[in-house]
Amino acid sequence: MKFTEEIQRRRTFGIISHPDAGKTTLTEKLLLFGGAIQEAGAVKSNKIKKGATSDFMEIERQRGISVATSVLAFEYKSYKINILDTPGHKDFAEDTFRTLTAVDSVIVVIDVAKGVEEQTEKLVSVCRMRNIPMIVFINKLDREGKDAFELLDEIEQKLGLTITPLSFPIGMGYDFKGIYNIWEKNINLFSGDSRKNIEETIEVSDLSSPELSDLIGDTAADTLREEIELVEGIYPSFDQEAYKNGELQPVFFGSALNNFGVRELLDCFISIAPPPRPKESDLRVVHPEEKDFTGFVFKIHANMDPKHRDRLAFIKIVSGTFERNAPYLHTRLNKKMKFSSPNAFFAERKEIVDISYPGDIVGLHDTGNFKIGDTLTTGEKLNYKGVPSFSPEFFRYINNADPLKSKQLAKGIDQLMDEGVAQLFTLEMNGRKVIGTVGALQYEVIQYRLEHEYGAKCTYENLNVHKACWVDPEDENGEEFKEFKRVKNKFLAKDKHGQLVFFADSSFSLQMTEQKYPAIKFHYTSEF
Ligand code: G4P
Repeated sequence: MKFTEEIQRRRTFGIISHPDAGKTTLTEKLLLFGGAIQEAGAVKSNKIKKGATSDFMEIERQRGISVATSVLAFEYKSYKINILDTPGHKDFAEDTFRTLTAVDSVIVVIDVAKGVEEQTEKLVSVCRMRNIPMIVFINKLDREGKDAFELLDEIEQKLGLTITPLSFPIGMGYDFKGIYNIWEKNINLFSGDSRKNIEETIEVSDLSSPELSDLIGDTAADTLREEIELVEGIYPSFDQEAYKNGELQPVFFGSALNNFGVRELLDCFISIAPPPRPKESDLRVVHPEEKDFTGFVFKIHANMDPKHRDRLAFIKIVSGTFERNAPYLHTRLNKKMKFSSPNAFFAERKEIVDISYPGDIVGLHDTGNFKIGDTLTTGEKLNYKGVPSFSPEFFRYINNADPLKSKQLAKGIDQLMDEGVAQLFTLEMNGRKVIGTVGALQYEVIQYRLEHEYGAKCTYENLNVHKACWVDPEDENGEEFKEFKRVKNKFLAKDKHGQLVFFADSSFSLQMTEQKYPAIKFHYTSEF
């Protein structure tokens, strides 16, 4: 196959949702369609169940699982599909944010009864900021839930999306009869025994035809006709360019568990979702079709084997082909490297690959050369942008609990931070180390891993910080910035790249500070 055809047939995406909306179930059904797995239950959910927060073995087990499910690749029709795992648990939100830098589109799963939930809002807002094309899948139609129009309103208002339904439910819960597929103009009927199999599809080119009543009954047929008329009256018609630009989001209804509406979603997805997109670097925009390989690290995963402190760096290929044993330039270290066993990921296994294309993810064994955000190229000294750090929500001092192991502690902290488990800040005032995370769970993970992988012990001490903001003065040498640094010295720290960060102890003090120093900008992410 030609290089450009390989690019055009790739679809690399993530599924985002609030926990329990049905992401794992949907992933599994997609893999079943692709023939990548044979039976339901093969994809292990890597979510942390409630109450397991202090169960370290559970955390370890979860970590093991999430390596396996970090990337799921399969072939469907003539397409190569790469699903990137995005943990739904809020303590791992930062991992998800970073993974979103490597997707070309996303599917948002929403529970028909619960509607738009907190994590959905956060993740969708990140996708909106980056104009990532999104398809919405409203799940669990076999259950009683919100009225379809009410839910569509909620999605528009809470998520700030411009939507257009491409399918519409016929009834819901107990009365759920099936789905009218606006995109393909056909109906899928839901009946008791079709729950396990892919049901028959009935073409309905004309909703006004009396046949519709024979299929679903007079009342349901009338309601459907009215509803579709409303849909056509209210919502814009589908426009692929608008979707690809992140300006319009198609909506599908279904039930992942019952495999209902999933094939429709997948068929529409492969035809409208974008192949690998160009990406901005510090020098220029790089196009997938370029001959020379470039790619970036968006995730680093520690290996499960405690005897080898070996990690797997996940690289998204942006342009060219990645070839086994070819020399590539690690641009931050300015060092040529070769990789003899790059891994590709499939549903239930990983495998060494000789060649990978734009859109693909390869896992490279690493002994400490990579940090999140690093760029590899054939030789050009460019760096990809867009893997920022986000302001953490929890802050604690970290103390060494075993003075004989201070070297091990420093090394452990350093490597865990490179993996993106948490962020390390150093206070300007006294050089004390502060660890910032997006969830309390991370502190336990860090403590456990420092002890088991590095032989170091730590304790924590609480620190009252509301938000960490990256400081961006208009004039580095101006009087205002000098005064700010003097007055706020107690609240200033450096992140691991040496960027100045302001620790605001409340939203009020942040507001006051912003007012008092109008020539300084305060950012919630490290890239601005
Ligand atoms: P997540 O990855 O987004 O967290 O969600 P997951 O797929 O694990 O689904 C959460 C729960 O919702 C699961 O039930 C799953 O079986 C159920 N579910 C998913 N899709 C549907 C659907 O279309 N209809 C109905 N009725 N339920 C659905 P659970 O009891 O929490 O887990 P399990 O014991 O079934 O694994």
